[in-house]
Amino acid sequence: MNQTDESATKFEGQLKEEPLIGWPMDHDAGAGLLNPYAQTKVGSDTIFAWLARYQNAKAEGRDAVNGTIGALLEDDGNLAINAVVDEAIRQAPPVEIAAYAPLTGLPAFLDLAKTLALGERRSELEAMGIAITATASAGGSGALYLAATNFANRGDHVLLRDRHWGPYKGFLAGCDLKARTYPLLPKAGSLYPFVDIEGFKGELAEMCLHQDKVMMWLNDPAHNPTGLSLTPDGRMAMLEAVMESASVNENVGHTLLIDAAYHLYAEEPHGWAETIHDAMSNGWPWPENLLITFALSLSKSHTMYGLRTGAIVSIHPDQAVTDRIATVMGVTGRQTWSAAPRVSQYTVSELHASDEGGAAWSNERDRLQSLLTERRNALNAACEALNVPLNPTHDGFFAWLDHEDPGRIAEACAEQDVYLVPLTGGVRIGLCAIPLAQVKRVAEALAHALN
Ligand SMILES: Cc1ncc(COP(=O)(O)O)c(C=O)c1O
Repeated sequence: MNQTDESATKFEGQLKEEPLIGWPMDHDAGAGLLNPYAQTKVGSDTIFAWLARYQNAKAEGRDAVNGTIGALLEDDGNLAINAVVDEAIRQAPPVEIAAYAPLTGLPAFLDLAKTLALGERRSELEAMGIAITATASAGGSGALYLAATNFANRGDHVLLRDRHWGPYKGFLAGCDLKARTYPLLPKAGSLYPFVDIEGFKGELAEMCLHQDKVMMWLNDPAHNPTGLSLTPDGRMAMLEAVMESASVNENVGHTLLIDAAYHLYAEEPHGWAETIHDAMSNGWPWPENLLITFALSLSKSHTMYGLRTGAIVSIHPDQAVTDRIATVMGVTGRQTWSAAPRVSQYTVSELHASDEGGAAWSNERDRLQSLLTERRNALNAACEALNVPLNPTHDGFFAWLDHEDPGRIAEACAEQDVYLVPLTGGVRIGLCAIPLAQVKRVAEALAHALN
């Protein structure tokens, strides 16, 4: 087994979508013990199945390409690790490893989380009277759960784009919520090329007719599964639409959640803080029924996937509101996972507390980001040369080909020993896993598959 084969085997366990223990299973087993909602839970095998096909191809000695995995791999197939973070964790004092963290998070970590969410605009926003609260969570997933369970009424809909991270539906369903969607991309010729603003406004208006709370989840920048990032104009158009809707529907609570799972690998990591800052500088009144909240994940940015560390960071002009949210989030965390892991909170706070530590982390982050940039540039160039209609893709771990028959495309690629993942509405290309030297083969396989 060469290096890549071993890595692929090791990385099975990193997949969020990995099959649950015992899958495949008899879905009727335990029906007398499991409640009806529990009985709806079935393991999702798509990504695992396609990874397994890649591994089989390698085991048969074929020169296969692995575009299935959702973790950043070095070009040699090993998991990419931010060495500065790794070293810092290993130096943590025993008590920081063994002890509980405070229930809402270590104060230094909560302070850092606010800066990681808002970047350099944080202090200006605070000076403008914006109150910020942060609560530590079990990864970005924990932050999404905190939002789902607290900001929407049971039975209601949450607004998503039609292409979204698969587990969103599970977080929502667990809180008795449903999804409404609008198209990821607008029709050709739109003023905003990367957001269907009309579709968004239409769905939002409709939801306001039926709900007294509306929540929108937006994974931006560096969207999973497409790598799309909004432009400043697109962000402003969206924020304007949300602010307008909140002003017009003053009895409807509006929560805009920015899922920032990959933002620190994006060209504009703090674009949303910029846009909010610009809107406020232009004198926009912030409706009191509007909350903006960030679901922060350190899994990718600090290569801490397994240490389950993230935060929910909420901003609002009234500190009484953010204080109340802090209590609610802390209590929810307590009742769900107790406290989030301490050693990771301690380590990153210490690391970013010094200019040296912050710079060392960001040098490593830049190195990892450049792996993604080079692979993405190569894929975009090759797809353009071969007329493969790849979706617009800018940042982050993935690229995407929209297609009405994603299974057929993925099968045709697999026949050429290029393994991608067919998902609803298209094929996910795990740029994060594909060595630069193999990227061109992905474009060629797609071109062949489409023909
Ligand atoms: C879009 C998106 N949001 C949130 C997360 C949550 O990440 P984690 O819970 O590992 O921090 C992920 C992880 O894959 C993701 O892809």
